[in-house]
Amino acid sequence: MTFLEERWLVVFEPSGLRILLDSNTSFLEAARRMGLHIPAECGGKGTCGKCRIILKPKPSPTKIDSLHLKGEDIRRGVRLACEHTAKAHCRAILTRVEGRSKILAEHLITTDEIAIDAPIDGEYGVAIDLGTTTIVAYLLGLKDGAQIGCASMLNPQIEYGEDVVTRITHALQNDEGAASLQSLVVQAIDGLIKEVCEAGQVSSEAVGRISVVGNTAMHHLFLGIDTSSLGFAPYEPAMKHSFNADSKVVGLGQVSAAQVYCSPNIAGFVGGDTVAFILSQRLDQSEDVVLGADIGTNGEIVLSKYGELFCCSAAAGSAFEGATISQGMRGQEGAIEHVTIDDPSQPAEIEVIGGGVPRGICGSGIVDIVSELLKHSLLDEDGRLQESNRIIHVGPSVASYVLVEKGEHDSESRILFTQKDVRQVQLAKSAILAGTHILIREADVALTEIDAVYLAGAFGTYINPESAVSIGLLPAIDPNRVVQVGNAAGDGAKKMLLSIAHREIAEEIADSARYVELASYGEFEKFFIRGTLMGDHLHE
Ligand code: FES
Repeated sequence: MTFLEERWLVVFEPSGLRILLDSNTSFLEAARRMGLHIPAECGGKGTCGKCRIILKPKPSPTKIDSLHLKGEDIRRGVRLACEHTAKAHCRAILTRVEGRSKILAEHLITTDEIAIDAPIDGEYGVAIDLGTTTIVAYLLGLKDGAQIGCASMLNPQIEYGEDVVTRITHALQNDEGAASLQSLVVQAIDGLIKEVCEAGQVSSEAVGRISVVGNTAMHHLFLGIDTSSLGFAPYEPAMKHSFNADSKVVGLGQVSAAQVYCSPNIAGFVGGDTVAFILSQRLDQSEDVVLGADIGTNGEIVLSKYGELFCCSAAAGSAFEGATISQGMRGQEGAIEHVTIDDPSQPAEIEVIGGGVPRGICGSGIVDIVSELLKHSLLDEDGRLQESNRIIHVGPSVASYVLVEKGEHDSESRILFTQKDVRQVQLAKSAILAGTHILIREADVALTEIDAVYLAGAFGTYINPESAVSIGLLPAIDPNRVVQVGNAAGDGAKKMLLSIAHREIAEEIADSARYVELASYGEFEKFFIRGTLMGDHLHE
């Protein structure tokens, strides 16, 4: 067996950092090397029981594991990080994350005033933005609509997979799969309600209303609805209409008698969070032609032609979440979020979340790197890295751009952006660009008619619009027309929390939006292949 064959790819969650490990290095030691904190009072001697992580797949527990961990935890895959080394490719999930996550909680721009219903049930309400990666809870006064507080966390379902397709598969292929995913998210929302109420010095008993918006898979898993129809074409949701129930019915125990409202869905992969985005920006009332996009592992794209709505979901994959990028990571402390190259022979200027030592690259940094490499001709239109003193060859033919050399920015190791990473970005950006141009065609408008592009969500808020246009993630429009609107889904959730009138508008949006299924769209492949070229060649 060669040295390389004895090494295993380990992905640390929720940061998404990756490392190749031999079978002599404990997960505790590996985490330390990567700058990840795992509590370890005994320093790895196996006596404190603090270094808990979840390992997938689950290795057999050691005697020391069994001494410190409950049977229920052992069944879930909880193990002591100092007790185990990698024996296969696996994921190591840190159960306590102390590094700062850049979770987008606030919306930047909203459109219309919320007309609060009167009389209203209860004194306080909680609006929940239930995302695949993050969950955000907003506590609002129901009398005046004032926001009292906000709390957020990573979606704990992440231990079962980063994207909705993996979680749907888990729900379908395991007897208790759907139940465990539901239980995790219900407990998480309960915990957030408790946290936001305590911080606001409000009794959770006084919470009378809860609104929840999420993509269709998150909606179904939260409500315990069968997700099998989302796993197969034509990917129809089992429930499209809005849903109202007593909090006890959906299992929320933190509040005693609140009404829970879940927004309607448009399609299997365009859910209530997109309805909330449209509602937040009132794309249904637009007097212009505008595009809206919320780009995650699925990019939900909406085109409003003077209020007539067209939408689709483009499977971008996880490149912009950092997952398929060799040194990619989520937007957490240590992630390089912006890159500028002034002189291509010199080190790039970088901005790191938290300002410390760079550990990996998150989505906005990835878009910047590709844009800067293009600008300086270190990358051609086909996506091939060109020769330069900052391009090295690892192995016989694998070119990589040295973003950070060992020692630069106090980094203890090199951070590379590889030729394979460029390919991953091409596939991801092409899916979004192809979806956008197909909507433009279906709406029968010209690119020049697009007045503005609204970008929602964390990735859309932190990316540099110029970089996004230059690589062809966004269509070839003036970057000054890009408006970054922040957490529009959260804003829509607040509107649906406070106002029955806005819930009725949400129903109309879900009913009237025309959904375009890209998987069965005849020319999708043609759009997609041409869309992989750098820039936007689809409007030519
Ligand atoms: S570090 Fe104390 S038991 Fe692992």
